[in-house]
This record gives sequence, C-alpha cells and structure tokens, in this order.
Amino acid sequence: MLATGSGGRRARRLLLSLLLLAAWETGSNHVRYSVSEEAKHGTFVGRIAQDLGLELAELVPRLFRVASKGRGDLLEVNLQNGILFVNSRIDREELCGRSAECSIHLEVIVDRPLQVFHVEVEVKDINDNPPVFPATHRNLFISEARALESHFSLEGASDADIGENALLTYRLTPNEYFSLEVPSNDEQVKPLELVLKKRLDREVASELLLVLKATDGGKPELTGSVKINITVLDANDNAPVFDKAVHRIKLLENARNGTLIIRLNASDLDEGSNGHIIYSFATDVSSNTEACFRIDSNSGEIRVNGKIDFEETKLWKLQIEAVDKGNPPMFGHCTVLIEVLDINDNAPELLVTSLLLSIPEDAPLGTVITLIRVTDRDVGSNAQVTCSLTPHVPFKLVSTFKNYYSLVLDSSLDREKVSEYALTLIAKDGGSPSLSTTASVSVEVADVNDNAPAFSQPEYTVFLKENNPPGCHIFTVSARDADAQENALVSYSLVERRVGERALSSYVSVHAESGKVYALQPLDHEELELLQFQVSARDAGVPPLGSNVTLQVFVLDENDNAPALLPPGPGGGPSAVSQVVSRSVDAGHVVAKVRAVDADSGYNAWLSYELQLAAGGARSPFRVGLYTGEISTTRALDEADALRQRLLVLVKDHGEPALTATATVLLSLEDSGQAPKASSRALSGAAGAETALVDVNVYLIIAICAVSSLFVLTLLLYTALRCSAPPSEGTCGPVKPRLVCSSAVGSWSYSQERRQRVCSGEGPPKTDLIAFSPSVPPGLNSGDIGDQQEFCENQLVKYIQLSKF
Ligand SMILES: *[C@@H]1O[C@H](CO)[C@@H](O)[C@H](O)[C@H]1NC(C)=O
Ligand SMILES: *[C@@H]1O[C@H](CO)[C@@H](O)[C@H](O)[C@H]1NC(C)=O
Ligand SMILES: *[C@@H]1O[C@H](CO)[C@@H](O)[C@H](O)[C@H]1NC(C)=O
Ligand SMILES: *[C@@H]1O[C@H](CO)[C@@H](O)[C@H](O)[C@H]1NC(C)=O
Repeated sequence: MLATGSGGRRARRLLLSLLLLAAWETGSNHVRYSVSEEAKHGTFVGRIAQDLGLELAELVPRLFRVASKGRGDLLEVNLQNGILFVNSRIDREELCGRSAECSIHLEVIVDRPLQVFHVEVEVKDINDNPPVFPATHRNLFISEARALESHFSLEGASDADIGENALLTYRLTPNEYFSLEVPSNDEQVKPLELVLKKRLDREVASELLLVLKATDGGKPELTGSVKINITVLDANDNAPVFDKAVHRIKLLENARNGTLIIRLNASDLDEGSNGHIIYSFATDVSSNTEACFRIDSNSGEIRVNGKIDFEETKLWKLQIEAVDKGNPPMFGHCTVLIEVLDINDNAPELLVTSLLLSIPEDAPLGTVITLIRVTDRDVGSNAQVTCSLTPHVPFKLVSTFKNYYSLVLDSSLDREKVSEYALTLIAKDGGSPSLSTTASVSVEVADVNDNAPAFSQPEYTVFLKENNPPGCHIFTVSARDADAQENALVSYSLVERRVGERALSSYVSVHAESGKVYALQPLDHEELELLQFQVSARDAGVPPLGSNVTLQVFVLDENDNAPALLPPGPGGGPSAVSQVVSRSVDAGHVVAKVRAVDADSGYNAWLSYELQLAAGGARSPFRVGLYTGEISTTRALDEADALRQRLLVLVKDHGEPALTATATVLLSLEDSGQAPKASSRALSGAAGAETALVDVNVYLIIAICAVSSLFVLTLLLYTALRCSAPPSEGTCGPVKPRLVCSSAVGSWSYSQERRQRVCSGEGPPKTDLIAFSPSVPPGLNSGDIGDQQEFCENQLVKYIQLSKF
C-alpha cells in the first residue's frame, strides 16, 4: 500500500477502524476484530472503547465490563486506554478444531445507561501444526511374486491446521520398485497407495526401507514422515541348481556296499521350504540303477548299494533330480557318469575242445592234439592270459592266435612206457595279483603194434627124464607183448626143423594159445640127449610181430642100460679075460683089467668092480680095484695058491636100482722066469657083446666126484659134469681115473658109435648155466680122493627149474 514500516501499520489500522466504524454505523453496536492464534500476551486486538463510542473517562464509572462465553480470560480490556488485548494463549485448533471459521464472541456491557455491545474476535490460523502420520513406522509384507501395478494402501498424514497450512503434499524416497499415488484433493477419502513398478526379487533385495514424507502448505512449511519397512516375501521362483551339470566319476568295481561316490550339491536361492532340496534319481532311471546305487534324499550323497561289476556294466549314467518343497515345486537336474574301473576279479577260462584225447604212439612230432581257447572277462592286463603246461610231458603249447593255443606233440611217445598223460593246463592272467585257472586234460596214447612178443629168456633149458609117457607136458613157454589188445595177443608155434631123419614135430608140439610144450613120444637118453628147437611167438597185430625162443630139452638118463663088458685088448675080442700070472710078482702087481662100459650116463654109467668070492671061500690073493677094474695081487703068490684061478668080477653101475654084469677072469699062475703070455678068450658076460668104443665119452652126473663123501652127493644132485677120457686112452675099459672135463656145454662131441646123439654145437653160450668152482672140503685128503676126484675147474651146474618137472 502506501507506506512501509510503522507508517504502513498505522495506515492499516486506520483502514480497519474505518471499516469497523462503517460496520458499526450500519450494523448498530456490532464490532469485529481479528487476532492470530498463538499471539503473545498483550498483543493489541482493537480500541474497543473508542470503537464502541465510549469515552475513556466514562468506562470505569459506567462499570465497563466484558463477558465471553466461557472464554473470558483469553482477551482482556485495558480500562485506562480502552484497548482489547490478548490475555492468554489462544489455540485456534483447541477452540474450533478443524472448522474453517473460528471466532471468540465477547459481550461488552456498560451501565448508566445499560448498554450491551457484541464484539466478535476472529481467531486467525497460523501454521503451527505439522502433518502427522498415524505411526512413525509402517511394516509391509509383500510377496515377490506380486504383479506389476499392484497397489498397496498407506494411511496419509493429518494436519491440524486448516487451509494452506493443512494442504499436504507427499514425497516418497526415490526407489526403483514403488511409486506413490496420491489422490487429488477432492478425493481425500481415498488413501495413499504404493504402486509396484518393478518386480520384486527377494533373492536380490529381501527388505526395502522407504520414507514417506508429507509437507503442508504453510509458511514456513512443516513436514511429517513415516518409515515404511517393506519385507519381500519369498516365492518359489528359483529352481534348485546343481553346481555342475555333469559329474564324471571313476569307481573301482566291487566297491563295498555303502562306498560314497559323490556328494551332490544343488542350491536353491529361495528360502524356507522353497529352498529345501530333495534329491532323487530321475523317474526314468532303470531298476538296475536303483539296485546298484542309492541316493540320500537330503544330503545328496550317492553311495554304492549293490554289486558293481565291471563285466556287467562299464559306464553308469545316473540322472539326478533335485526338487524343492515349494508349491508348486521346482526341479533341477544333473547327470552323474560313473565309469567303472576293472579290477582283476575274473580268473581266465580255459576251453578245451575235447577233454579226452587220443593220439597214436607213432604220431609224428608236431601233431596237433587239441585246440585250447582262453578267455578272461576282465580287460587290459587283467585279461592278458598266458597259458602253460605241466612240465616234463612230451607235449607243448603253441600259440596260434591271440588267446588260441594248440596242444602239439613235442617228443615221441611210447604207449608201453606211458599210456596216458594227465596234463594240467594253467592259464594265468596279467593282473596284480594275477588269477589263474587250471584244466586237466587227459591224453591217451593209442597202441601201435611196435612191440614183438618177448620171452623173458632167449633160451630155456628143460630136463626131462627119458622114457617119459607120450604126450606129457614138459614146459610152458610164455612171451609177453607190451602192446595192447590184438597187438598183444600172442600165439605160439613150433619152428619146424629136422631132427636126424625125423621132423621135430614128431617129437614135440606147442599149444598155440597156452604155450604148453608136449613131448609126443617117449625119449631115449641114449638116443637123444638134447633136443634143441625154437618156439615162435606171434602177436595178432597188423602187421604181426614175432620172436623166437630156444628150448633145450635135456633128456635125463635113467638107469636102463646094464654095464657091458669090453674085450680086454685094443683090438677087441671076447669079453672074458684070461691072463697068465707069474708067481713071482710082488704084492700089488696088476695082473689083469676088467673093462666095461655103460650106455647110460652119470651114476648110471659109473661102474664099480668087486670080486665075487669063490664058492670055496678060500682066501684069494687077488683083489679088484673098485673103480679101475684092475686086478692086482694082494700078496706075493706062493705055492699054495691054485694054479688056475677063476675070478668073478661083478661090474655094477650106480643107478637106482643098480644094474650089473659079471665078468669072468681066468688067471693061470706060472712059475717065475716064464714070460707072461696073454691069452684072451671070449667069455660070455652078462652084458653081452658090445662094440668097442673108439672114443669113450662118459657122461656123469656126479656128485662132485664120486669118491667123496656124502655131503657132496646130497648137495649137488643135479650137478652135471661132463667128462671125457683122453682119446689116447683108446681102450674101452672102466672110466679112467683122470677125467677131462669139457668146459662148455657148447662143445659137445659127437660119437659116431652112438646113434642119434644130438649135437648142438651151433648154440650160443649157455646163459642159463651157472658156473661154479667147488672147493674141496678141508677134511678131505686129496690122496684119498685120488685122480678121479680131481676137481674139475669147469664144472657146470645147471640151473633147473624144478617145477617144470
Ligand atoms: C523391517 O521389518 C522386519 C520384519 O518385521 C524386521 O525384521 C526388520 O528389522 C525391520 N527393519 C528395520 C530397519 O526396522
Ligand atoms: C555347495 O555349493 C555352494 C555354492 O556352490 C557352496 O557354497 C557350498 O559350500 C557347497 N556345499 C558343499 C557341501 O559342497
Ligand atoms: C547295502 O547296504 C544297504 C544299507 O546298509 C542295505 O539296505 C542293502 O540291502 C545292502 N545291499 C546289499 C546288496 O547288500
Ligand atoms: C624165428 O625162426 C624162424 C625159423 O628159423 C625164422 O624164419 C624167423 O625169422 C625167426 N623169427 C625171429 C623173430 O627171429
């Protein structure tokens, strides 16, 4: 307006007064004032006396007084100057609340004359109240799943002032999630609203702190605020996630039940049950998998549950599912690849095409007997199998191809030594420790006819008494054949030859199967001392094999020939001896000799001579040498001895029973000086005529010299001594005391006088004869034994199988 400062104020008051006056004049005694609330004590309100047309001086006398309806003490009038002033604090909000008009009504009363004036004092508002929110904190819980543009109500603030002073504007802390929607002024009934402008994410921000500020329109403005604490509630909006999509694990086979394979780790960003993960095998997993593995649904541990066998499954592919407990649940997946590692848990297997194998013993080296295949279910070195064979067998293994072997003949076979081989095949793998398998294979060696029948000795000696009954069994030959079956089936036959003029088969025969040898006719020792022949043994193989054995059948002598007397001289002649004896001969003089032979041999041919006493019983001056047959004087002859002496000499062999012959010796005694004249005259002897022997072979079965004593006799019943008199002793007489012993049976001599004496000079040395040199017992006096008892260096003792007789 016009002026500033106090001048301005005066001018305003003047204006006000003029207005009041006008109002007074028009509206009778009605005065209006105004005063701001909260004005200080003494604040001027109006010149009430003046404005009512009252003189200052008359105020007191007329008892000027102000009455108000209950609020009398808020305003006061100074009676001195007639001014209405503020007496105590005026609070418009207390007086009038939120009503837009607020006045204090005063009644002014004066007496003499009584006058009543109405004075209205308008209380003007000042901005003395800030906006106020119902609470200083507000908690909101909002799910992160709420859609955009969702609205959330908030109570607004209130302001006790009115008008501009109560006109509120709101502001929210700047944030990306919410905006504030404030209703326009005429819609004050609607609350404030937060509007969601961006999706909440608990996993990013689980709590938002906002401040809502209200500002009024007063000058200066006042503000109020509320803290809004928004808690973002979790929604199951995150699936479990595995740290790795594929896990590769190596696992040794045969891992123990319960072995931990892997601990899976899935994480879920949600919280609470939305983040509570349960592990399981995916639904499409095979029952096989579930038999071998188990998964802990809470910890995610996968453990071995059954038997893990590399040979069955080398790679396991486990699909694992993780699910949270949200509603609806969310899933995560991963794959666990378990590579099973081999361990050497399978022994090699041996496959032999045939377990009983046969091979002929003459099969060539390198013959394949069978094929062998080895397998091992493991892999790598655990499946690298080496095959070996028991040592020291004539076979070997030849590797033909990987894991294939041939069993091959490596050295020659002999069924007769080993007919069957029990082989052990050992297959050993290269694992550590290695495993092995053994298989037994039996190889049979088939027979081939490669062995001839064999006799245990090349030659057998058989002793057979002469005069045997015809057809008697004299021996059994037996040959063994080491082969088998037909190859060992032996049959025997005689190897035919001639014996003298006859065929061998007329003497003996052999039974083809049993090998029994029979003498077909009685044999005569004097005709045939030794029958030597061969028996052949043949097997039934194809081609057959055979061998021969030599049989020597000695025909043993029996005493079936009596001694035969021989003529006295070399020229032969009658067998009786007639001799002239000089009377002058001394005692011991040999005057004659009786000669005799015996066709038998041994004891049966060993002759002894004894003098048969004359019938007269006169003492004879002669004696005969027991073995020499020499007749000698026992004393000097004298006249008393008869001129003609007839001696009967009994010649006796040592057979059992003994056979005898009697020789007659005629002796003519002659006086001394007379030349002895031998006259021989044949006298018939008991033995009859016998042709002279040119060469005497005397076969003796002796008991180491006959002279001797019993012990020898009994001991060596079968000792054969073959002796021959030296050919120079041409005379056929008793056996000479000196015996020449032929050293070997192989040197049989042949006597043409003796028919059919069998010779066998071609034979090999007799291996079946045991040679020995008997010694003279110390008690024996060699002089007693005499020449005849000379021990023969080469006595041969035949070993005789007594049982054969
Ligand atoms: C917000 O409210 C939550 C839930 O009532 C409470 O845990 C948290 O302490 C509050 N934050 C503040 C800053 O007051
Ligand atoms: C799982 O994985 C989380 C994050 O990759 C890691 O913090 C926690 O230690 C793991 N838990 C196990 C048991 O490995
Ligand atoms: C392995 O162990 C588990 C728990 O001890 C048992 O239930 C299961 O039968 C076992 N598996 C075998 C094959 O023994
Ligand atoms: C056996 O003897 C006969 C006749 O001497 C002969 O032919 C044959 O070869 C002999 N056999 C053997 C194996 O010596």
